[in-house]
Amino acid sequence: MATDSRMASRLLEQLPARQGFGDATLIRHRPGSIDLGGGNPDVAALPTALYRDAARDLTESDGFAASLRYVPAPGIPALRAWIAEREGVDAERVIVTTGGAHGLALAVLGTLDAGDAIVVDDPVYPLFLRTLDLVGAHPVPVRVGADGIDVDELERRLEEGLRPKALFTVPTFHNPSGGTLPDDRARRLAELADRYGFTLILDDPYREVGFEPGAVDVRSRLLDSDRVIAVNTFSKTLGPALRVGWMVVPEALSERFVRLRNRLDGLTSGTLQELVLRIVQRPEYPRVLADAGLGYARKARALQQALGARFGDDIEITDPSGGFFLWARLVGDADFARLHETAQDEGVFFQRGEWFAVDDDAHLRGTMRLSFSEQPVERLVEGVERLHRAWRQVRG
Ligand SMILES: Cc1ncc(COP(=O)(O)O)c(C=O)c1O
Repeated sequence: MATDSRMASRLLEQLPARQGFGDATLIRHRPGSIDLGGGNPDVAALPTALYRDAARDLTESDGFAASLRYVPAPGIPALRAWIAEREGVDAERVIVTTGGAHGLALAVLGTLDAGDAIVVDDPVYPLFLRTLDLVGAHPVPVRVGADGIDVDELERRLEEGLRPKALFTVPTFHNPSGGTLPDDRARRLAELADRYGFTLILDDPYREVGFEPGAVDVRSRLLDSDRVIAVNTFSKTLGPALRVGWMVVPEALSERFVRLRNRLDGLTSGTLQELVLRIVQRPEYPRVLADAGLGYARKARALQQALGARFGDDIEITDPSGGFFLWARLVGDADFARLHETAQDEGVFFQRGEWFAVDDDAHLRGTMRLSFSEQPVERLVEGVERLHRAWRQVRG
């Protein structure tokens, strides 16, 4: 519907509607259908007992009423200090955010101007591309694989003259493709950022949901570089409805990021920050994370096995060591748009791989992101049965 141009800003006027990923019009909810599309944690893995204790402790404490007041824009000091210690940085560099998406929006607004180029993962977390619409920056795809973003390819492109202002990557248990950037590649990335003068936006929401307890350092990487903005969230460990996350910014920019934040939402709920603090400080918290990781590992294996058993040589599947997703490619030719429709008729939803493309999606033909985090094992297995029925109907 056309609107009167005086009603809306150019930004509001021109924001594209969601297409593909996140477009609710593409999802047909029907009773009993199995959703393998989402990024929700397993509700059974969320520490509800710790929430109950924390809420009681907070609401019965003398400080409760004060937690309902405005709190400092970068976060309450105690939570900033807890995050800073965990990240191994000065607390001045930590800003508590209202979730990961908010941290990404701040990073984009604080780094990029209209027309700037930013290197992004290919396939990419699609909602990050939409954040770029806020400033009109231009994404430049670089392939990401089992070892994260392709640093050789990036270096070649830089040598050929590419001059990005920033680079965005999900370095650990990549969404959607599951890979992890090894430390030596991460170092090379930081060296390239220094040499060519661009900012690294490292978005790491899955870092704390590794399958093997202790296998991944929970600290963000490269924080000794003054070119890194690390964005994170409690969404995958404490639940996305909480809307609490954090970012670590270069020391030289931290005051200015707080100024920016003051002009947007001003603060993250102090009450929720107090709640989070009481949960993460509990001695049981590391065990909660470890148990969640083991649960996700079990589900990932179950989904891999079911896919392998049903599809055999018709499918290639990644073997991640953490996160919420399997990335799969169906071998052979088929009408993959029809597969997605037919799968929904059969009662299973997944994300089409093409929806994670930056621009050209030909190389993602036949790929799928299958989420194992939310559904119980028997639903995962049933989901594969339904997917396979759809595949039998459409494969060439
Ligand atoms: C790669 C990535 N970044 C950021 C987010 C957003 O996190 P939040 O729900 O805290 O906004 C997600 C959530 O799915 C994600 O997968």
